[in-house]
Amino acid sequence: MKEKILIVDDDLEMCAFLSDLLQGEGFSVTTTGDSLEASKILKKEEFDILITDLRMKGLKGLDLLGEAKKIVPLTPVIIITAFGTIASAIQAMKLGAYDYITKPFQTDELILTVTKALENRFLKREIVRLKKEVESRYQFHQLIGKSLPMQRIYDLIGRVSDTSSNVLITGESGTGKELVAKAIHYNGLRKEGPLIAVNCAAIPETLLESELFGYKKGAFTDAKSDKKGLIFEAHGGTLFLDEITEMPYTLQAKLLRVIEEKEVRPLGDTGSYPIDARIISASNRDMKLLIQQGRFREDLYYRLKVIDIELPPLRERKEDIPLLIQNFINRIGKEMKKEISGVAEEALKILLNYSWPGNIRELENVIQRAITLSQHETILPEDLPSSMTHDGDENLIEKGLREQYTIDRLEKEYILKILREVGGNKSKAAEILGLDRKTLYRKLQEI
Ligand SMILES: Nc1ncnc2c1ncn2[C@@H]1O[C@H](COP(=O)(O)OP(=O)(O)OP(=O)(O)O)[C@@H](O)[C@H]1O
Ligand SMILES: [Mg+2]
Repeated sequence: MKEKILIVDDDLEMCAFLSDLLQGEGFSVTTTGDSLEASKILKKEEFDILITDLRMKGLKGLDLLGEAKKIVPLTPVIIITAFGTIASAIQAMKLGAYDYITKPFQTDELILTVTKALENRFLKREIVRLKKEVESRYQFHQLIGKSLPMQRIYDLIGRVSDTSSNVLITGESGTGKELVAKAIHYNGLRKEGPLIAVNCAAIPETLLESELFGYKKGAFTDAKSDKKGLIFEAHGGTLFLDEITEMPYTLQAKLLRVIEEKEVRPLGDTGSYPIDARIISASNRDMKLLIQQGRFREDLYYRLKVIDIELPPLRERKEDIPLLIQNFINRIGKEMKKEISGVAEEALKILLNYSWPGNIRELENVIQRAITLSQHETILPEDLPSSMTHDGDENLIEKGLREQYTIDRLEKEYILKILREVGGNKSKAAEILGLDRKTLYRKLQEI
């Protein structure tokens, strides 16, 4: 395919001369004497090189250069200038022109400049392509991580996306289960359909059934009109059942029936309605143990985990920590309009040595807090929570007294400490704290 060059010069003789010359060299050439027209052409058609005069009527050469840098930033611009206007040619170089040639010029000189510019364009595009390739290897939708376990997860997501099989995602709190569920939905066959997320731990048990299955008017006292259930809303798309183990046992049987019969029957309805929804469920609990204890149905378990994705805890993929930190710094720094360039070595050491019971959510919060506190260009050890820097066994009350904690802060630290002790198991933590799981859940969201 011929490489394309756009020539802009209000000296039409010059245009014709350049056009002949470059066509003779095998290029496809478009010329225009009108620089405003040139900017329109650039928006419509892709060129490999732009050659423009500096002094023209209408849009000046420098303005056209500015336009071109905006519209097609990777296309090299060669400036043609008369001997007397070298100063502005140099200014053009500062503004991002690739090179300039002064009139009168030798034809060889022009051809050499064009050839070099093409090489430059090729290399620039190659860099952009490689950068994207590297990034996509370390990133999948919003998931970040270059470690082997994460690459396996990307691979799995890629493969399950093209199917409609049910997927069970397991992993400790904060490992990215919800992000993975979204990545599967938005990467798959059903991305045009709805993604309906239901957190089984956050909805009171008494409401969960009617929320999920819907009801007919009069099915119970508060049923003032018909209501479509969330399962129905997910028709043609994906139903994401988060914290699936918190679904009451009786409801588990109903859900199983929906999966087996591909039909939903709203409360108080005599008929059933066909339903086509992929179910992605997630849990951070030991499901096998719950099955043994008779708290989760084994038959449902197997229906849900046709494909199962186990997310590794952050402490098992520490090589991803620097990458995650940099991403959080970029994003949060921008949001908070604070320029932080990175993490000081000492602070990074602390971050790498920590066990991250709250996984990526905890890391994100620690970075957010550090950016808020930081008074320097980099994050220093003093910007990290003292529980990470001091030995973790320091008496919480003493530390609270020393640092003058509010009750709120003390409560948060205590909850986190207990959560760490039980390895992130929220049910166990709730039991020790004397809270019900929903309250703990809410408090954790606020941390
Ligand atoms: N691989 C990742 N890359 C970037 N951010 C991530 C990654 N995994 C998780 N996060 C971020 O960490 C936070 C927690 O993720 P998410 O809500 O998906 O976790 P979860 O496993 O569902 O947690 P829980 O069990 O507590 O519900 C979110 O803010 C998410 O954006
Ligand atoms: Mg979640």
